Amino acid sequence: MEADVTLIPFSSTEVTLLRRWLVTPHVAAWYPDPEDHIEWAANPPLGGDRALITVGGQIVGYVRWQAVSREILDSVGLHEIPTGSVDVDILIGEPEFVGRGIGPKALLLLLSQFRQRRDVPLVGLTTSVQNLFAQRAYTKVGFRVLREYSPPGYGRCYLMVYSFNEDA
Ligand SMILES: CC(C)(COP(=O)(O)OP(=O)(O)OC[C@H]1O[C@@H](n2cnc3c(N)ncnc32)[C@H](O)[C@@H]1OP(=O)(O)O)[C@@H](O)C(=O)NCCC(=O)NCCS
Repeated sequence: MEADVTLIPFSSTEVTLLRRWLVTPHVAAWYPDPEDHIEWAANPPLGGDRALITVGGQIVGYVRWQAVSREILDSVGLHEIPTGSVDVDILIGEPEFVGRGIGPKALLLLLSQFRQRRDVPLVGLTTSVQNLFAQRAYTKVGFRVLREYSPPGYGRCYLMVYSFNEDA
């Protein structure tokens, strides 16, 4: 696993880089609506934020997170997810950096930030049932499949969760 992975603040000048990544085939396969992501990154909603993933000082990926409201959770049938939970999306945009353990390392950094905040009961990641690379990466970090659901436009997905309450 790469040792020197960091998360650094996302600045609006990085939108161009994110746009390039979102149309790169290994990412585009899982992100059907790139413009939505670009808009979100340029102006994150309340409760949302994002960061760039670096390794050895090079910017290689992107992660975003969003506190999910009770209304949204209920609207997609996720009644069992506690209020205050955070939804995360991640991508390693540079193809030559995929499969090198950078995604898991970036997620561990993010989880450690959430743990320190103490107001995040659970972190969720949604991934296509077909995205086996993502499922392997998330499982390594301690996420488990909670259930399958079908968010609009994404087909059959797994909701994978990491609960801080089970840390002890
Ligand atoms: C999903 C993602 C964030 C995982 O991060 P990562 O740093 O690649 O994670 P890992 O290095 O732990 O790789 C995960 C698994 O994918 C496999 N893998 C990934 N890329 C591979 C490649 N190019 N060739 C072969 N295997 C690969 C590895 O076998 C690895 O499993 P293993 O270590 O148990 O063998 C990253 O692959 C990615 O951004 N993919 C494209 C976008 C995407 O799918 N985003 C997630 C949407 S939910």
